[in-house]
Amino acid sequence: MTKKVALLTGATGGIGQACARRLVASGMAVVLVDLDMARLDKLARETGGDTLCLTADVADEQQSSSCVQAALARYGRIDQAFLNAGIEGPAGLIGQTPVEAFDRVMQVNVRGVWLGLAHLMPAMASAGGGSIVVTSSIAGLRGSARLAPYVASKHAVIGLMKCAAIEGAAQHIRVNAVCPGAVDTRMMEAIEAGANPASPGAVRAAIEAGIPQQRYADPDEVAAMMCFIAGSEAGYCTGSVFTIDGGAMAGAVR
Ligand SMILES: NC(=O)c1ccc[n+]([C@@H]2O[C@H](COP(=O)([O-])OP(=O)(O)OC[C@H]3O[C@@H](n4cnc5c(N)ncnc54)[C@H](O)[C@@H]3O)[C@@H](O)[C@H]2O)c1
Repeated sequence: MTKKVALLTGATGGIGQACARRLVASGMAVVLVDLDMARLDKLARETGGDTLCLTADVADEQQSSSCVQAALARYGRIDQAFLNAGIEGPAGLIGQTPVEAFDRVMQVNVRGVWLGLAHLMPAMASAGGGSIVVTSSIAGLRGSARLAPYVASKHAVIGLMKCAAIEGAAQHIRVNAVCPGAVDTRMMEAIEAGANPASPGAVRAAIEAGIPQQRYADPDEVAAMMCFIAGSEAGYCTGSVFTIDGGAMAGAVR
């Protein structure tokens, strides 16, 4: 087959759905990976195009491997991969957060990316190359009170991305990270509710007030950057961190 093939984890989340729509619209075959088949089926019906829906917990070695194998069995290769699945974990001070919560965030956000890289890179190398985009966060670039497991996990995936980029370069595999600021998805709603269950709207207003552009990103704005970085026009980009945050990392609004 001549059409290019993409694999996308966290496909039914806010950013994942926006990526899926763009990838299908660009004419690629898209392997959609997430936890719930009903949600995957619904997304595939909405996007149309050539999709393969797979349920997998990205933190599970066997399930992660099976996704890559199923994609290869169906399409023969994987040109682009988006390691985008993630969880925010609970809000709370370090001393009050159960270690099990820390472990689960690290399993999904770090081990999940590790396993994705470990299974995708040999397959891409055999096919002559490929491109991988990891979804980190501005939480991977700076600290944040009451969100330490998430912050640690998003810093860690930047380290993994850099190592994979160095290792993959000789096989023509590019690996990059996107670092979104606040994006209008379920995850930010959960973070707002975790910060102040009585008034999540006030939390959102306070976060927006601290962003130079004074708003959250639309998921499609993030998807547009992810798809650009994955594509051939970004052919000289590897090992890089791409921030998309309405100016948040530039500095605080006075
Ligand atoms: N929303 C934001 O403000 C924001 C900002 C920066 C980075 N991010 C990152 O973007 C990515 C996508 O987040 P989103 O905003 O779309 O959130 P979301 O909650 O809407 O989507 C996350 C998706 O990941 C899936 N998922 C969770 N655990 C999984 C597992 N173990 N195996 C497979 N799939 C799993 C969920 O089912 C969900 O569909 C995440 O990695 C997140 O950390 C989000």
